[in-house]
Amino acid sequence: MALLDKHKAIETHATLLLVLSFLVVTIGGLVQIVPLFYLENTIEKVEGVRPYTPLELAGREIYVREGCYGCHSQMIRPMRDEVERYGHYSLAAESMYDHPFQWGSKRTGPDLARVGGRYSDSWHVDHMIDPQSVVPESVMPKYSFMMSNVIDGQYIADSMSVNAIVGVPYTEEMIAEAQADFAAQADPNADTAGLTARYGDKVVVSNFDGQPDLTEMDAIIAYLQVLGTMVDFSTFTPDPTR
Ligand code: HEC
Repeated sequence: MALLDKHKAIETHATLLLVLSFLVVTIGGLVQIVPLFYLENTIEKVEGVRPYTPLELAGREIYVREGCYGCHSQMIRPMRDEVERYGHYSLAAESMYDHPFQWGSKRTGPDLARVGGRYSDSWHVDHMIDPQSVVPESVMPKYSFMMSNVIDGQYIADSMSVNAIVGVPYTEEMIAEAQADFAAQADPNADTAGLTARYGDKVVVSNFDGQPDLTEMDAIIAYLQVLGTMVDFSTFTPDPTR
């Protein structure tokens, strides 16, 4: 019982107990934290995931500004009811360029992680102007002011530079051409060769809001239409070892 007697010494000395507890917690903490410093990335790379175009990024900023995340999540969990309703569960890579991510925690409205391509642009215009005109029982607020808020992408290059600082792979070329790409994506008559060379052929070019002016409505719909569409799930196979 000699060992237990020594333990008694610890239990009866508050200071000794504190010091030794601190040591144990420190070692335990280091064992968990230190390996993380040597990890390059915990996110599996998935083909198709790309940084947002300038117009989509502007739409994302409006989404954050308006607090859409207060009613909408962007995180499909790998459970059957969710996958059947919304589509393939969300992959970490799909929000790797979101700073901050928009996973959300409240679903007053449905999850939006895969809403891209589900509705036409004009459905979105009607819905954003007056949600109750298309879904009578909706409690979503009206965002009709977005139709008249004209934007020109003046600050989008700055925004991309900031995203680049936190790891989004925007190149110098992308940042230099930001305002031109911004305008081109909302104009079906524009020369979009540069835009698609930089962001890929799948970029949707459209006059999203149907008006001659480029407005916040164009940006928010460009953003909504890209959500969940970057990865081709007909060819994607998850790597179970990751
Ligand atoms: C007060 C809560 C609330 C807020 C804030 C809100 N929504 Fe909604 N949203 C809803 C509800 C409820 C629905 C389901 C009924 C409907 O379609 O209108 C919905 C539906 C939607 C849909 C259709 C989704 C689908 O799969 O049918 C889109 C797209 C959408 N919202 C976008 C937005 C955007 C963008 C914003 C921010 C500008 C926003 N919502 C803000 C409550 C909200």
